[in-house]
Amino acid sequence: MASKSKDADKREPDFRPLEVWQAVESGEVSDLADIAAIYDEQRAGCPVSWTDPGHGEGYWTVLAHKDVTEVVRDPQRFSSAVPKYGDPLIPIEIDPPLHTQYRALLSRLINPSKMKVFEADIRDYAGGLLDEALAAPEPDLLSVTSTIPLRVFCLLLGTPDDEEWRRIKEMTEDLHNRRIPTFSTDPEHIAAREAASVPRVEYCKKRIAHRRAEPGDDLATDILAGQIDGRDVTDDEALRILSLLYLAGHRTTANSMAGIVVELARNPEIFQRLQAEPEKIPAAVEELLRVETVLHIMPRYCTQDTTLGGQQIRAGEQVYPAFGAANLDSTAIRDAATIDIDRKPNRHMAFGLGVHVCAGAPLARLQLRVFIEELLARLESMELCGTVTREKWPRFGPTQLPLKVRLKS
Ligand code: HEM
Repeated sequence: MASKSKDADKREPDFRPLEVWQAVESGEVSDLADIAAIYDEQRAGCPVSWTDPGHGEGYWTVLAHKDVTEVVRDPQRFSSAVPKYGDPLIPIEIDPPLHTQYRALLSRLINPSKMKVFEADIRDYAGGLLDEALAAPEPDLLSVTSTIPLRVFCLLLGTPDDEEWRRIKEMTEDLHNRRIPTFSTDPEHIAAREAASVPRVEYCKKRIAHRRAEPGDDLATDILAGQIDGRDVTDDEALRILSLLYLAGHRTTANSMAGIVVELARNPEIFQRLQAEPEKIPAAVEELLRVETVLHIMPRYCTQDTTLGGQQIRAGEQVYPAFGAANLDSTAIRDAATIDIDRKPNRHMAFGLGVHVCAGAPLARLQLRVFIEELLARLESMELCGTVTREKWPRFGPTQLPLKVRLKS
């Protein structure tokens, strides 16, 4: 293994992809095979690599599918209680056993059969937005993919008016435009994130007060009516749940949707196959999520001295399972750099794995399927006509998506 034994005071960073990742962001490196090769090389040399992000504390990046699985399946040893926005967000910054109760509440409220009720609206939103965008010679599909999940999210929360999703869009963009390094535990960055979260928190407080006074038929009302430990959910708990949902519940889906457009444009044989066999769309969604993993890492911290992937880790150190790398690990996933919509089983981790596996996955999957169906219903073909740029590591959403399309006659 290339990695040196780690001395707490003299750590040499041995995670090199951070340097080459800029080429991925600028679009210079965009081939799946090239991205997989970056990870393969690093994983072969040092599967659990000390990483200096250039700000705040360093962390261990975990690159192998088996080690990522080990981390996320052991919340006692690898805790998620790493608050990044002030008060811990529920349930993502809470460990079991308390996590289990919050999670049971959310899983009861967001599941495939409950989400089905949104299918017709999702289809209407997707259809309307696509018709408008596809009328332009060089359609701006990024505006479509960013708007559908926002509108659906507002519907889920019982605020379907245009004014509401635009307000949430503004709050999200404001937080993003401040460019606070993702997941950094530098106290300055945490304070900056907390300050940037004030409008979101205030907005959630108003939603909670409104729904306490006037219950509706929406997720905010259902959360407030929930029980934890045999007692009612408090306003503070509801605030920390809603605040997380506003952070996690639309942009991830928007980025995944845009990533799926990139892959369908790059792979006309998959596009055509899905036209001919629409029943393959759900399996294609899983496979496209695997290669378009929008959150490449998520934070944990180690609660005890331990060994992982042959590396000594000390209690209190941060450990980041890299879902993006695990999803391209050819030692665990056959032909990992090839998109295969017949892949079975598909052990991807785009939604994470273990107790914190994405609570919103049923809604995300539904939106992605319906979006692809509506896209395929309108297009004969599409191709990229320029460079696709990406968000900054560790996020992967497309930031530029130049497309040429041929509409169905
Ligand atoms: C394609 C879209 C999405 C992707 C790729 C995604 C990805 C993820 C990932 C990787 C995690 C695991 C975090 C960890 O292990 O630390 C997660 C957790 C979570 N996601 Fe998503 N997400 C998506 C959509 C959504 C939506 C639509 C919602 C809500 C409506 C949502 C709500 C959550 C929540 C509440 C958690 C925390 C779960 C827990 O801690 O138990 N996500 N998501």
